[in-house]
Amino acid sequence: MKRAITPSTVERTMRDDDFIVSKTSPKGIITYCNPVFVEFSGYTEEELLGVQHNIIRHPDIPRAAFALVWDTIAAGKEMFAYVKNLSKDGGFYWVFAHITPDVDIHGHITGYTSVRRCPRRQAVDTIATVYAQMLAAEAQAGPRQAIAAGTQVLTELLDAREMRYEELVFSL
Ligand SMILES: Cc1cc2nc3c(=O)[nH]c(=O)nc-3n(C[C@H](O)[C@H](O)[C@H](O)COP(=O)(O)O)c2cc1C
Repeated sequence: MKRAITPSTVERTMRDDDFIVSKTSPKGIITYCNPVFVEFSGYTEEELLGVQHNIIRHPDIPRAAFALVWDTIAAGKEMFAYVKNLSKDGGFYWVFAHITPDVDIHGHITGYTSVRRCPRRQAVDTIATVYAQMLAAEAQAGPRQAIAAGTQVLTELLDAREMRYEELVFSL
């Protein structure tokens, strides 16, 4: 069960040589996390193992962003994403995540791995604006239409820039 945490404005910044790593089951249950994950999340390893990865979900990230992540990795593809995460004490930290599927010898997905590094500040500033627009559209659309509404904002932005999602991410 997820506890309600009130987000604060306290930011933790990743160091240039940090890697925040976690592994999950196919459903997103945390099966591994490294010491830097423990440090930034503010939870103990015992609190993290066996729980849904949304334990560090920050409300500023639109639902459509996670829908895109899951659609991509469940299709067996890698995914790059800027994510704002929520620490146990309400603080937050931005990461640049690379999420990949783990597969067995038959090609079946056995879980996922995420390796996160320090994002560039300018990239965070830009993507935060995009996420805010997506979030506003999701709030206006209501829960049932939220993902479609958030996705539409992102699609229109990409169309206007004539870019694919990956191109946007790596142009920031
Ligand atoms: C390998 C992996 C790593 C993930 N890392 C994060 C993360 O750092 N922060 C996060 O909010 N969600 C992460 N997620 C996505 C969560 O499982 C979840 O979909 C997301 O937090 C949205 O939660 P919600 O559907 O309850 O809103 C990750 C998923 C996978 C498979």
